[in-house]
Amino acid sequence: MDDLIKDHAARVRAVDPLVAGQDELHGKGEWLEVRDAVGLASTDRLDPDSLQATWSPLVVHRLQARVAGPDPETALGAVLDRWLARRRPDGPEQALSVSWPSRDTAPVKALALRGFMPVAAVAARRILPHTPAAPVPDVAVRRANQDDLDVVTGMYRRLIDYDAQFGWVTARASTTERLRESVAKEVLPLEWCRLAEVAGRVAGCVIVQPPTRTRWISSSVNAAPVAYLGTMYVEPAARGHGVGVALTDAAHDHAAAEGVTSMVLHHALPNPLSTPFWARRGYRPLFTQWIRHLP
Ligand SMILES: CC(C)(COP(=O)(O)OP(=O)(O)OC[C@H]1O[C@@H](n2cnc3c(N)ncnc32)[C@H](O)[C@@H]1OP(=O)(O)O)[C@@H](O)C(=O)NCCC(=O)NCCS
Repeated sequence: MDDLIKDHAARVRAVDPLVAGQDELHGKGEWLEVRDAVGLASTDRLDPDSLQATWSPLVVHRLQARVAGPDPETALGAVLDRWLARRRPDGPEQALSVSWPSRDTAPVKALALRGFMPVAAVAARRILPHTPAAPVPDVAVRRANQDDLDVVTGMYRRLIDYDAQFGWVTARASTTERLRESVAKEVLPLEWCRLAEVAGRVAGCVIVQPPTRTRWISSSVNAAPVAYLGTMYVEPAARGHGVGVALTDAAHDHAAAEGVTSMVLHHALPNPLSTPFWARRGYRPLFTQWIRHLP
């Protein structure tokens, strides 16, 4: 099995040296072994009142898989079939999720043929040493402070409502309250939150987790230090005038000044605004999340 995982990691490294963490399976779960593939299956059951429950359905069955041999698609298909045969939906809001290195395309047809669809990408870009970007005319970017609690919470909530359209993020009764707590206790005191103003009115915001808070994702990126751009939102009336560009430049400038070398983020792949926006800002996919909702 060690050789199989090593072969998997070598194939992924050859197509994307920026992907890390493929030479082991992480965490606890049920082991699945088939010819040329191994998997670790686990299930997350979320409290609907938790903030985490905003980011996915309530029950998410996850499979980590490592595949090798001459036919990676068949190997992935076999371990998926073993996993799917054991899954029995036992309540509402159940989904399956498999995260796969985006550039390791050889096996992924096995996911498509079993009804999985790509819903989100983890994307990354290099942060170059500090070179301040040219200011965007008429857009002022400033640091958010505790007085901005309501305005940041409101934009964060509108971002979730926008993202929820794509079928994974889910707004809940407690979402606004949990967001407000998170903005007050974590975002404003501990993270890098910037607001954009147009004619003196707040028009957008960006929130970045500094490297001290990105251990949950930095182990999947072969670069360090890593910051995580978790939130970007521009009010609909202000879109298309450079506000998003000004916020992104400010986030990159600050990260560079703090010694960050790589910025990562998630975006919904069906999002017609963010997908081209992030690609144009230099981000490229690292992992693709394939999902299937269970009836
Ligand atoms: C994605 C989103 C943040 C983009 O914000 P935006 O303010 O509309 O983006 P911008 O206006 O800065 O950039 C859009 C285009 O306008 C261009 N633009 C227009 N005027 C400009 C100016 N004065 N200066 C610079 N760029 C300008 C940009 O170059 C860009 O085009 P390009 O990507 O071809 O280079 C915004 O659409 C949004 O909030 N969407 C809903 C929520 C969302 O999807 N968030 C992202 C979650 S991951």
